[in-house]
Amino acid sequence: MGRSLRVAVAGATGAVGLEMVKTLEKRNFPISELKLLASARSAGKTMKFKGEDVVIQEMTKKSFEDVDIALFSAGSSISKEYAELFRGNKNSVMIDNSSCFRMDDDVPLVVPEVNAEDAFKHNGIIANPNCTTAIMCVAVYPLHKAKGLKRMVASTYQAASGGGAKAMQELIDQTADVLAGKPAQVNVMAQQIAFNLFPHIDSFLDNGYTKEEMKMFNEARKIMHMPELMLSCSCVRVPVLRAHSESLNMEFEQDITPEEAREIIKNAPGVILCDDPANKVYPMPIDATDKYDVLVGRIRQDVSRNDKKGLEMFISGDQLLKGAALNAVQIAEVLNR
Ligand SMILES: NC(=O)c1ccc[n+]([C@@H]2O[C@H](COP(=O)([O-])OP(=O)(O)OC[C@H]3O[C@@H](n4cnc5c(N)ncnc54)[C@H](OP(=O)(O)O)[C@@H]3O)[C@@H](O)[C@H]2O)c1
Repeated sequence: MGRSLRVAVAGATGAVGLEMVKTLEKRNFPISELKLLASARSAGKTMKFKGEDVVIQEMTKKSFEDVDIALFSAGSSISKEYAELFRGNKNSVMIDNSSCFRMDDDVPLVVPEVNAEDAFKHNGIIANPNCTTAIMCVAVYPLHKAKGLKRMVASTYQAASGGGAKAMQELIDQTADVLAGKPAQVNVMAQQIAFNLFPHIDSFLDNGYTKEEMKMFNEARKIMHMPELMLSCSCVRVPVLRAHSESLNMEFEQDITPEEAREIIKNAPGVILCDDPANKVYPMPIDATDKYDVLVGRIRQDVSRNDKKGLEMFISGDQLLKGAALNAVQIAEVLNR
């Protein structure tokens, strides 16, 4: 690990920010000074880091004057407001969790297991991908490297945590209300989530897809350097507290058997093979929660085809970690190698 750095976490009290602080501690990221930043609402409260109380400060432009790496997860409008401090800045890097710069030509979009080297092409800002996309790429890329991915259809089962701390609380509150015979209050998510699911994450676009679905389409192409990848996604919110799951139907250039795919996954970084259905072993969000690696299983030959070029598989990954906090800290680690 490289030199000790001055690190700021912008949005430290949020669902992603809390995990960032925990991840920096767990991975023993070398820090000479840690600034925890949030809104005025949180200023003065404390958070623990390595057993010490760190006082949360209200975020202002001055907060970043003496910072080497700023991990941003305070929402798009905040990222836009502060980006000017970093663009073109040689001394300080913003690793941003929002979606606002991901597709900019001068902003690398990085999943370290896939395209770590892109991180070094930054101009002050590096983007962390959409959570569902990051989890998908880490699982699919090793198969692509071996057999050439041609087309993919992804259906997602996304947890409340993808909507932030308030969405997680809404699932808990609605569940308690419905069980008590009371009507569910819908304040944060698009629909009632307790005892329900809905195919609506982010807003709808003219082509009938949602923004979340098109983020997967565009970002996967950029991360995997596959500008022509054929990909179609349906994103669904499910009443799971944390960790996203995805059903992936993949078509490859070359033949690939489930046995070959299992061997590739066993030897790939960032994934764990979890594929023994006879013993009820397969990826589930409850098992993926709090884990760094993405669980991969239910690997089988696609029976809708007459060849060996199609595979089905199911994955679960903690999107607050691999889809956000962990991936951001891994990018910082890459820069500090
Ligand atoms: N949840 C996910 O799975 C996920 C995954 C990837 C990317 N992201 C992205 O990460 C960002 C944060 O998501 P989240 O789920 O962690 O949201 P969240 O739980 O709602 O947290 C938002 C954070 O931003 C802070 N904040 C809000 N307004 C602020 C202001 N004016 N000045 C300074 N700080 C402010 C909040 O501080 P207070 O506590 O003081 O209000 C809180 O720390 C979003 O851009 C989101 O799209 C989320």
